Amino acid sequence: MSQASSRRVLTGITTTGTPHLGNYVGSIRAAVRASRAPGVQSFYFLADYHALIKCDEPARIQRSTLEIAASWLASGLDPEHVVFYRQSDIPEIPELMWMLTCVTGKGMLNRAHAYKAMLDKNAAAGQDPDTDVSAGLFMYPVLMAADILMFSAHQVPVGRDQIQHIEMARDIAASFNHLYGEHLVLPEALVDDNVALLPGLDGRKMSKSYDNTIALFGPREQLRKQIMGIVTDSRAPGEPKPTEGSALFQIYRAFADDAESAQFAKAFADGIAWGDAKQALYERIEREIGPMRERYAYLMAHPEEVEAMLQRGAEKARALAVPMLRELRHAVGLRTLTAEGAVPKATVAAKAALPAFKQYRESDGHFYFKLTDAGGRVLLQSTAFSSPRDAGQIVRRLQQEGEAALPQLTSHLTPVDPLIDADLRLALRQLVESQAA
Ligand code: TRP
Repeated sequence: MSQASSRRVLTGITTTGTPHLGNYVGSIRAAVRASRAPGVQSFYFLADYHALIKCDEPARIQRSTLEIAASWLASGLDPEHVVFYRQSDIPEIPELMWMLTCVTGKGMLNRAHAYKAMLDKNAAAGQDPDTDVSAGLFMYPVLMAADILMFSAHQVPVGRDQIQHIEMARDIAASFNHLYGEHLVLPEALVDDNVALLPGLDGRKMSKSYDNTIALFGPREQLRKQIMGIVTDSRAPGEPKPTEGSALFQIYRAFADDAESAQFAKAFADGIAWGDAKQALYERIEREIGPMRERYAYLMAHPEEVEAMLQRGAEKARALAVPMLRELRHAVGLRTLTAEGAVPKATVAAKAALPAFKQYRESDGHFYFKLTDAGGRVLLQSTAFSSPRDAGQIVRRLQQEGEAALPQLTSHLTPVDPLIDADLRLALRQLVESQAA
């Protein structure tokens, strides 16, 4: 599994709040774009087990799960192209967490920033150091490691505050591999320094904890009102205004391209009135967000559709998690009593993780084949054949010659979605390699 040549990128979103504009600019937008890159397998999940650590309101967790899922989908995440799932639909994750717990030093967890901050707070308040510290909070980094290691993620896009957690996941993976063999991929944090930290209404970093956020998909009127409420100074209309240190300008820049930003900067220099500047900002944001808001509203009104997408995502995720856990259970000795010593590492998971051809007959009486990736996504679909032998011959050519055979076979294949093309080629290479091995 660690040999898989396509890069795997994975990230989780804790389901406790409602996405705001800062989340959109700081993570959602870039993640959606990155998920479309060829040769990357993206995993996005709703971290609702993590939500339990800080939230004991069931309705809020459910609501937030729907809001976050709808926000990502409305922002353009394509659940066919990525694996988009809810953490708690994958029972293998907490099972892996236990195995990892047993190779994690308590001393390492003692050093986790979030946990230490709680201890410091309690000390400052003259309280017992463990007041209000649940064992869940203490174990947070191990659950996160299970999320990441389960899917052999190479890269994990996170904010700076999460880097320590990724380093811990690496340490935990290394301990496991040291004891039981090379089963786990050591992940890397991917921190995007170009992404703007969006200032909030009061000019400080936009954050729930400062209560200065602008809702991402609130009603249009609310967006306008909130933008009109951004704190500015007392410079009058006609007075030149510095862009430096202006929250208004920074938010504008996060949405506009260079030319638009330069124009806006000129308007500042020319003394645009704050009210007009705010109106321009509102219009610029609305241009990008407006069409998505409609899709968001639709999804919020149709939770059953979102649920179906998550179920489909869970199927894809479990197609990987189940064989992975089987491999790991075997590795640590959780085996049937009749199992023979060590089976060669990773064979089970590697097989399950390979793309596969499936031949079948339709009700029209014709024979077909398709190629699906490890997660069950269709990469290639044949046209109709009158005999299974004809279909089988084409399948064998693809297995043996790989992508080189594609140009000669177009008449037997339905057109390939350009979004999928790179993944298809990768899958064919994997198949050819696996035959050679
Ligand atoms: N802890 C992350 C956060 O609060 C959310 C998260 C949970 C996560 N599991 C993850 C992020 C795995 C990346 C990978 O932002």
